Amino acid sequence: MIKKTLIADFFTTISLSQYLDSMYLMTFRLPLLRSWKDILKFENNFKNYLKIKKSKILSFYNWRSALYHTLKIIWIKKNDEIIVSWYTCVTVSNAVIQSWWKIIYSDINKKDLWINIESIKENINNKTKVIIIQHTFWKPSDIKKIITIAKKFNILIIEDCAHSLWSEVNWQKLGTFWDFAIFSTWRDKVISSITWWLLLINNERYFKSINKIKSKLKLPSILLTLRNLNYNLAAKEAYTFYNIWVIWKLIIYLSRKLSLITEILTVSEKECKFKNFNLSLPNSLAYLWINQLNKIENIIKHNIKISNIYNEWIDNKKIKHLFKTKKNELNNYYRYPIILKNENEVEKFYKYFKKNNILLWKTWSLTNIVPLGTNSKKAKYIQKSCPIAEDISKRILLLPNNINISKNDAEEIIKLINKF
Ligand SMILES: Cc1ncc(COP(=O)(O)O)c(C=O)c1O
Repeated sequence: MIKKTLIADFFTTISLSQYLDSMYLMTFRLPLLRSWKDILKFENNFKNYLKIKKSKILSFYNWRSALYHTLKIIWIKKNDEIIVSWYTCVTVSNAVIQSWWKIIYSDINKKDLWINIESIKENINNKTKVIIIQHTFWKPSDIKKIITIAKKFNILIIEDCAHSLWSEVNWQKLGTFWDFAIFSTWRDKVISSITWWLLLINNERYFKSINKIKSKLKLPSILLTLRNLNYNLAAKEAYTFYNIWVIWKLIIYLSRKLSLITEILTVSEKECKFKNFNLSLPNSLAYLWINQLNKIENIIKHNIKISNIYNEWIDNKKIKHLFKTKKNELNNYYRYPIILKNENEVEKFYKYFKKNNILLWKTWSLTNIVPLGTNSKKAKYIQKSCPIAEDISKRILLLPNNINISKNDAEEIIKLINKF
């Protein structure tokens, strides 16, 4: 019998229901691909979900667009500064640089990967206007301390909720604490509508700007929408045949070569030169999103169940668990990070698992600005200025805990870890 491959990196959100929904959109609802009212429905659904009434909400085709437009509506003088964590995705840096802000990177904490408060304080000066707070892999940042800093220095906060949909602190959903929040249901996030990012404006001073942003956005072409939907088909087929190397390689190779699916990041993004920020969300992807939000409780329950098994049974002193849930938190366990001794151990560990048909999540490893291959000089990073982020990124790996991983799979992974 062929042994199933367990994957933590790609294909984390694909499922039969996603496959069927995409098929339905690309056939029966094809003539209506861009003209329904799903967008409005899902923007209202989302406000109800977050239990907020006043905030304004606007959806974009991707995160970079949401951040770019947010930075454009904040009035700044030349060389005003924005503080960002130096353990992030290059699209954040790209959007900041393209919107003409000066980007300043702050280091992170070793134990929870939060942006480091002392490093923020060191970087603040009279030109600092914004801080982006990222809840990395789900762990909610230190809300109380950051609110104090923002008030003291009169700084706006943008909450990066790319990893933290559903999570709560003090019984309040993340994303509702600060001036702006940007959420994601991109295809490797908590739930997936393949691509989609949503800006929440909580600061009343900026409510009116929403119309200004709307006037600049246009819908993606039908072709681009279809290429996105086709990802759910190609990925499901590739994953189903993952152990028959030729078939899955062929599906992915042809899909990429013939541009039948969209790419994660282009070279221009890794070089921080990407400028196309004016796309909104197509209705068909909003339809996927609504169906996924209905399933979010089950998806997260599953992530939590598998993560708890890891928490309880991993018993190898060489491996450090990251994150414990505090009493006042509800966490989505979007990813399960572990820390190893050094870069060599990471390579050994990764290879050992690969030999056993398990692919660990390596996208956020070996580089502190993901993905690998990003030009950190173009992202305006000064080497060695954030030593902890540089160190942690070399020693981190992520275990699979997504919907395609069963309890038995998790137990098999634990046995391997404890033997390593
Ligand atoms: C924490 C975080 N913020 C922002 C982004 C940027 O999203 P996008 O690639 O859609 O622009 C990502 C991408 O994965 C991310 O992980």
